[in-house]
Amino acid sequence: MIVAIDGPAGAGKSTVAKSLARRLSLHFLDTGAMYRAVTLEVLRRGLDPASGGDCAAVAGSIELDFDAQGKVLIAGQPGEPHIRSREVTSLVSAVSAHAEVRDPIVTLQRSLAERWGGLVAEGRDMTTVVFPEARHRFFLKASSSERARRRALELGTPEDVERIREEIERRDRLDSTRAVSPLHVGPGVREIDTDGKSAEEVLALLVSLIGAPRT
Ligand code: DC
Repeated sequence: MIVAIDGPAGAGKSTVAKSLARRLSLHFLDTGAMYRAVTLEVLRRGLDPASGGDCAAVAGSIELDFDAQGKVLIAGQPGEPHIRSREVTSLVSAVSAHAEVRDPIVTLQRSLAERWGGLVAEGRDMTTVVFPEARHRFFLKASSSERARRRALELGTPEDVERIREEIERRDRLDSTRAVSPLHVGPGVREIDTDGKSAEEVLALLVSLIGAPRT
C-alpha cells in the first residue's frame, strides 16, 4: 500500500505520517529530508545552491539511505541534525526547485517504494508527481500562524514564533510558485484542515478514511 501525503512546511505531515506508518506497519519516507541532504552536501562541497548544474551533480552522486527509524543517512552517516540547520532550511527551497535535482531523487523515492513493498511518503509532490496513482492521497493544511506556533514549540523557542512564521511563508511562496512540481492540491486529493486538531485527531481521521482495521 502507498499512502501519499503533501502539504506546506509545518502542517504536521511528519508526525502524522510517522504514526500512520507505524499503525499500518509500513515504512515512512520523509522526502523533505532527501532534499535537505542534497542541500547540506551542496554546502559541504562548497558548491552553489543557485546553480542547477552544481546541485544536479550532488543529487546524481549522493548516497542516500534510511535507518530503521526512517532517518536519512548520507553515505551511511546520520544526516540529522545537520539537515535541520537554519542555513539548510533557508536554502532547501532553491535547491529543490531545480528540475535536474528532482529527477534522480524522484527515481530513488519510487525505487524505495518498490524495495519496501509500500510506504507512507510525505513531501510536496507525493500526491501529484511521485505517486499520483496511490489510492490514498492527502493534503494537510493549516494556517501559517498555527504552523509557526507548532514549529516554535517543537524547537523549544516560543519567542521565535514571528521569525518562524515569516520563514514558513517565504518557503510556502517558493515551494508553491516554482515551475517544477509546485506544491498544490491535485485532482482527487483529499484536503485535511489540521487547524485546531491534535496530531492524534488527524491520525484517527486518516486511519478512518483509509479504512484500516482497528487495533
Ligand atoms: O518537509 P521539509 O520542510 O523538510 O522540506 C524541505 C524542503 O524540501 C521544502 O521547503 C521543499 C522541498 N521538498 C520538495 O521540494 N519536495 C518534496 N517532496 C519534499 C520537500
